Amino acid sequence: MGENTLWYCAPLEGVTGYAFRRAHARYFTPADKYFAPFFSPTQEHVFPPRVLRELSPENNAGFELAPQLLCRSAEDFVWAANALFDMGYGEVNLNLGCPSGTVTAKGKGAGFLGRTEELDHFFEQVFSAVRGRVSVKTRLGLERPEEFTRILAVYNRYPICELTVHPRVRSDMYKLPVRREWFDYARRESRIPLCFNGDIFSAGLARELAGAYPELGAAMLGRGLAADPAMIGRLRGRKWRSEGALRGAIREFHGEVYDTCARDFGSAKSAMLRMKELWSYLRFSFAGCGRELKRLMKSRSPEEYASAAEALIGGCALAAEPEYGREGERK
Ligand SMILES: Cc1cc2nc3c(=O)[nH]c(=O)nc-3n(C[C@H](O)[C@H](O)[C@H](O)COP(=O)(O)O)c2cc1C
Repeated sequence: MGENTLWYCAPLEGVTGYAFRRAHARYFTPADKYFAPFFSPTQEHVFPPRVLRELSPENNAGFELAPQLLCRSAEDFVWAANALFDMGYGEVNLNLGCPSGTVTAKGKGAGFLGRTEELDHFFEQVFSAVRGRVSVKTRLGLERPEEFTRILAVYNRYPICELTVHPRVRSDMYKLPVRREWFDYARRESRIPLCFNGDIFSAGLARELAGAYPELGAAMLGRGLAADPAMIGRLRGRKWRSEGALRGAIREFHGEVYDTCARDFGSAKSAMLRMKELWSYLRFSFAGCGRELKRLMKSRSPEEYASAAEALIGGCALAAEPEYGREGERK
């Protein structure tokens, strides 16, 4: 299989913020690169405090990070990207995949894919002014995968350092099957190094993908990695000393994410809500934890939450090889 495949951590807004990234890199085999969930630079050209905290190099030390921008204005993109390069980042990613209606209505994210001429002009301006590497994360188009032929022709004209392809169109959202045949099209036609993203829900599926695409440089893991934070270690053949050691890593990881969120939000209750979001993925690291999970999701105070989380982490069996959505519950 592709033993040289790099494994990246996808941006998942509300899940893979710096608290997750830092704890993940500390307690598990780190991703080769983490992508921060997007932020939208505005005309004022200032970073709001939340963004500064999320992207400060101190909060992201010890692993590689590519900040992501969601933006349609070349001027705002160039400002934000150059400010991030000045902070020490080597790469900034452009989001051309977000399917949310409020985003696409403004012609951003996947919405930008319907304006190929404007996109071409955007890149022309961006690449004449940025002082670092720019990568792109894209869908195939808005409604039909055939749109991708025009879109890829635009990308091929520019020195984009890496192209992550999520082979779905906007209207597929995250649910309809991934269109692998269109990733094959990209493999044939792209002049830009490719990264695959979409539905790699377990280490087994990741191995299968790396086997099918031996030349593939990189693949990006989203929900699968949030479900199984040990996934990259599994792919690299890392063995835990004992089951207790893996359980201990999950406990430390969980505790650190929770504490960081509680401190940043100034409220254990808000942090608890954030953790429940994480549990909609992390639950798949455990086998048959239905009752404990229900108790955790219903907990109303931080005390109840802490006790429910410990009952689950300490008491439920670990899944032999976790798979996101295995119990039929995909979001
Ligand atoms: C809750 C959630 C938040 C997401 N936030 C972002 C984001 O900020 N930027 C982005 O490019 N993609 C975002 N995505 C898309 C993921 O990065 C990824 O492309 C998608 O989940 C498919 O990969 P997966 O099947 O490995 O999860 C998000 C997806 C989810 C489910």
